[in-house]
Amino acid sequence: MKREIPFEPKKTDVIKAFYWTNTSLYLLDQRKLPHKEVYFKADTLEKVRESIQKMLIRGAPAIGIVGAIGFYIGMKALDKKIKFPLPTKKVITYIRKIAYRLATARPTAVNLSWALERMQRVGEAFLANTEILSKEAWEQLLEFFKKEALTIWEEDLEANLRMGELGAGLLPEGGILTHCNTGALATGGYGTALGVIRKAYALGKKIFVLVDETRPFLQGARLTAWELSKLKIPYKIITDNSAGFLMQRGIVKAVIVGADRIAKNGDTANKIGTYTLSVLAKVHHIPFFVCAPTSTFDLSISSGEEIPIEEREPREVLSCQNKLIAPKKAQAINFVFDITPAENITAIITERGIIYPPFEENIPRVIKDGKN
Ligand code: MRU
Repeated sequence: MKREIPFEPKKTDVIKAFYWTNTSLYLLDQRKLPHKEVYFKADTLEKVRESIQKMLIRGAPAIGIVGAIGFYIGMKALDKKIKFPLPTKKVITYIRKIAYRLATARPTAVNLSWALERMQRVGEAFLANTEILSKEAWEQLLEFFKKEALTIWEEDLEANLRMGELGAGLLPEGGILTHCNTGALATGGYGTALGVIRKAYALGKKIFVLVDETRPFLQGARLTAWELSKLKIPYKIITDNSAGFLMQRGIVKAVIVGADRIAKNGDTANKIGTYTLSVLAKVHHIPFFVCAPTSTFDLSISSGEEIPIEEREPREVLSCQNKLIAPKKAQAINFVFDITPAENITAIITERGIIYPPFEENIPRVIKDGKN
């Protein structure tokens, strides 16, 4: 039997949201955390799509990377179906179909469509000026796709480490409030906002983390708390509605969150509840930081109004851990992201530097079109 060799990005993390064996992708099923650590084998395009849609894997950078690997898995599976010589037109149709299928799994985090556009560009560049593909050329194309997906992963990990270094100095000592999960589970490793917290703590800053539980999926109570426990960083979970009171009492010294899409003017889509936190932070004169890699910026849109906001099933709100908590026929609204206006943000930490207002001017300067 052929032995599967796990792919490891250069710098590994103690927490692995996913790993790759050169043929199959394994995803830590985040719906089961913190009680069960079970990896799911996502070895088909549809399994990868469903894992993203059902949130076995979640977090903007992580779904971008997994989407790119899923794209490779989908293209590779065509091996069984195609015949040579293969018309280039057919390959382009496959590329578009597979990229579209994956990109539509979740709409808000731009990292997913960004990563898939990047995969498509690799394909289109390879196929330019070719009308027919030989078997050898097809295999070479698949290798390019695999390499690109793993490069996206490595680049994200590098970006996170860099953001940790750049952002750590911004955090004051004391209570640091964070929302949702932005750690190794949500990224290619290490984390964005949680990475900054990790780095600041590693540098000896006396901080403790106030973890918003983040209803309804409980990314904070289940995932961020799990990561912080593993990392031995002090934390306390708070209900989402306690932030105002804790700020009023002087317990929160700064807020740091991740992002799913940042518009050209700095308006930021992130987990529902982020906007509320930004308003509270402003009222209480507390710094409010966003931390995201350049892959999360969408310079094609001028403001947050253009960001598509995912709405998920009301059932997620009406139940908790699969137990109905509301009357049987109760209805619910379940937008899972909101928009924080740029004017509520103190600074945005990226791997290319810290961006301060005026964002309208400074974002396009730091994040150039084409990003990578
Ligand atoms: O619905 P989720 O869990 O995918 O939402 C995740 C978030 O909102 C994160 O804050 C964001 O993706 C940044 S992760 C580094």
